[in-house]
Amino acid sequence: MQYGQQPIRVGIVGLGTVGGGALRLLKDNASEIARRTGCPIVVSHVGVRRDRPECDTSGIRVSRDVFAVVRDPDVDILVEVMGGTTTAREVVTQALEQGKHVVTANKALLAEHGNEIFALAEAKGRFVAFEAAVAGGVPIIKVLREGLAANRINAVAGIINGTGNFILSEMRQKGRDFYEVLKEAQAMGYAEADPAFDVEGIDAAHKLTILASLAFGIPLQFKKVYAEGITRLTAADVAYAAELGYQIKHLGLARRTELGIELRVHPTLIPAERLISNVHGVKNAVLVLADPVGPTLYYGSGAGAGPTASAVVADLVDVARAMRNQPVGAGRAGVPHLAFQPDALDNTPILNIDQVHTAYYLRLLANDRPGVLADVTGILSRYSISIEAILQKPAHAADHAAGKAPIILLTKVVCEAAMNAAIGEIEALTDILDHVVRIRLETLDA
Ligand code: HSE
Repeated sequence: MQYGQQPIRVGIVGLGTVGGGALRLLKDNASEIARRTGCPIVVSHVGVRRDRPECDTSGIRVSRDVFAVVRDPDVDILVEVMGGTTTAREVVTQALEQGKHVVTANKALLAEHGNEIFALAEAKGRFVAFEAAVAGGVPIIKVLREGLAANRINAVAGIINGTGNFILSEMRQKGRDFYEVLKEAQAMGYAEADPAFDVEGIDAAHKLTILASLAFGIPLQFKKVYAEGITRLTAADVAYAAELGYQIKHLGLARRTELGIELRVHPTLIPAERLISNVHGVKNAVLVLADPVGPTLYYGSGAGAGPTASAVVADLVDVARAMRNQPVGAGRAGVPHLAFQPDALDNTPILNIDQVHTAYYLRLLANDRPGVLADVTGILSRYSISIEAILQKPAHAADHAAGKAPIILLTKVVCEAAMNAAIGEIEALTDILDHVVRIRLETLDA
């Protein structure tokens, strides 16, 4: 069957921030979208488990049972924007089984179950499009899958959680309280249903899983991503980092090395002069280091109704165009779901965090007496850890009175296992008080 000028019919499952935004956008920009697609894209059925009076569903069939949308023969493309991984997995699987194409913003679903979902989509000759799953309105999926298809990608580093970046920016620039800013992010529709996903790095790990598969042609491997959140960052570390010429950002980093692939999400010192260091608020940015193109940087709003709906609707246009141009079941117009042909994915090992190589910021609280620094540098030297910079700060009044002094060290790149061992020995010194604070540092140069 060929699609002509007749409308492409869309069913939306979930009318939260993203679904509501997509519904509105399809209406507001209907004529522009039809001009691009070659036919109208209309919402024919919405599945929503509770009333959403803020969404204008006039003229649209509304069901409480989301599976009624999945079964509806008047739906060509199913938009899954309900979130979660249980019912959503069932919805997407059944939609593909029913012969529908799927557009989803669900990064958790794809990171955790994407391998099976894409295999099913391939078997059924249906599309699963997911631009909205990573970096909101920034079209980074298309960039990796299509725009950079000629390149060997060496690393992808991104600020890929808008909520976390918004919190860090507000804390640093306005001295605001962590939880107060988090509440604001929730009210603005940036935060995940469980905001721990944002602040503990899980959301960024989901997104990094997807980016890494697209960049390196590997299966989705969420469980192998190392994730550390921003909840333990202190204002003191942010200030010391700034004094040394760095910004602390919550970074997702996927890097190809000779040993394997690093997949990690954690607070990271980045040189203040890098463009990505100046990405603030809910904005996201993804830096791609590729050969031969070199570094390229993609920037925009990472969360919220408008940006995410922009990505969902772009996927709808993409799928609708392909449906009009080829018989249903003919596959994804030659563009595989994970950028590489399914039978060409490879199993490059994912490194454990202790195999990762990175530089470090260390903060120690020490008894202020001669020889302590020599003891510390002696330990670092035994582990072949070179020091890049040292900063000894005057202690706050209470620490000063107690004869304690903070010492900040920046190291050169070292294997994390060696750093762990060195930190263990440093913490065992009687003149070192408290745990050593360690934050990884990346220069992000090509
Ligand atoms: N909670 C996510 C974020 C939403 O803040 O980035 C967009 O994926």
